[in-house]
Amino acid sequence: MISSRLPQNLEPNAVARALEARRRAGSPILDLTATNPTAAGLTYPGDLLEPLADARALEYDPQPLGLWSARAAVAADFRRRGIVISADRVALTSSTSEAYAMLFKLLCDAGDAVLVPHPSYPLFAHLTQLESVTAIPYALEYHGSWRIDVDSIARAATGRVRALLIVSPNNPTGSFLHRDDLAAISRLAVANGWAIIGDEVFADYPLDPASHAAAVLPGAEVLTFSLGGLSKSAGLPQVKLGWIGFGGPTDVVDRAIGAYEIVADTYLSVSTPVQAAASQLIERGAAIRMQIVARVRRNLDALRAQAAAFPSIEVLPVEGGWSAVLKVPQVRPEEALVLELLAKDDVLVHPGYFFDFAREAFVVVSLLPEPAAFDRAIARILQRSAA
Ligand SMILES: Cc1ncc(COP(=O)(O)O)c(C=O)c1O
Repeated sequence: MISSRLPQNLEPNAVARALEARRRAGSPILDLTATNPTAAGLTYPGDLLEPLADARALEYDPQPLGLWSARAAVAADFRRRGIVISADRVALTSSTSEAYAMLFKLLCDAGDAVLVPHPSYPLFAHLTQLESVTAIPYALEYHGSWRIDVDSIARAATGRVRALLIVSPNNPTGSFLHRDDLAAISRLAVANGWAIIGDEVFADYPLDPASHAAAVLPGAEVLTFSLGGLSKSAGLPQVKLGWIGFGGPTDVVDRAIGAYEIVADTYLSVSTPVQAAASQLIERGAAIRMQIVARVRRNLDALRAQAAAFPSIEVLPVEGGWSAVLKVPQVRPEEALVLELLAKDDVLVHPGYFFDFAREAFVVVSLLPEPAAFDRAIARILQRSAA
């Protein structure tokens, strides 16, 4: 009855079961997996979403790639990051997750493959499977900083690969794409006819930006997509506005946009109110973004200060994003540590395996939670993990 595109085992895992039991019992939880900016004690002005009531939204003018005013506003926002793109190279989506689904439909036949980074964002498993696409992992390696293991890409590739995914800065390693790695990947992409999909949703959150950091669009030699959205750049995941910037050789991009228009026209998923409000929401979102920047910086500093007293624990360098990775002594499996933290310390964290780290033991913490709770939770994590 149920498609094989969905997981066959729908049983919750041990951590989900333990969490559910605690929630049912009403036990308190210091949640360091929380990445919902609207539930992090930030100040959202009550009238922030007023532009959604713009009278222009009373008229339905279905445009597959989005209303021109909204596409122009997104193009202007790219320029804020120093990336020059014209509005006719921008398409709107309702989220970045949807952008992935649309691009897999555009690029892949059933059974084709895309190359995905490990460690990275765990949703790729579902996003690919739901489109009948295979996710083939390539490795990010940590040697004092995270770099793409370009040889692992060459080793992993098969004839069915259609695109390579890059997340920059990556979630959860916080590492920006290194310009030398982009050059090497571009060479492979040109030689093999792959597209490049760059997930740059956290690009607005540099914490210690490496001077070698590169964006995917400028000078793109192959069909390239840059993904972004209000979810992260303005702390507004509920508004549901994402976008794709197209780049690469002109004739290839023109053909891709023409084909993409058919995919987008099939769904027309972005609401008119959000499109009419886009330029204002992008502008207003800057105030939320600034609060998030301050929050993640503050929490990262506090984490480093507390961790300094625990020589057996290493806070890995963070170049950007909303999370930090702790390398902890491997005295027990990661899952046992996570369950113990939950049961004895009321603290919830993600284990490294959740993000496909190549080995144990790592703990991933969100830098978004409210500071007092963050500091309390970190103190307990450090005590428990160092033991
Ligand atoms: C790397 C990365 N890409 C995409 C997304 C999804 O963003 P959206 O809310 O726009 O679908 C997330 C959400 O956490 C993410 O971490």
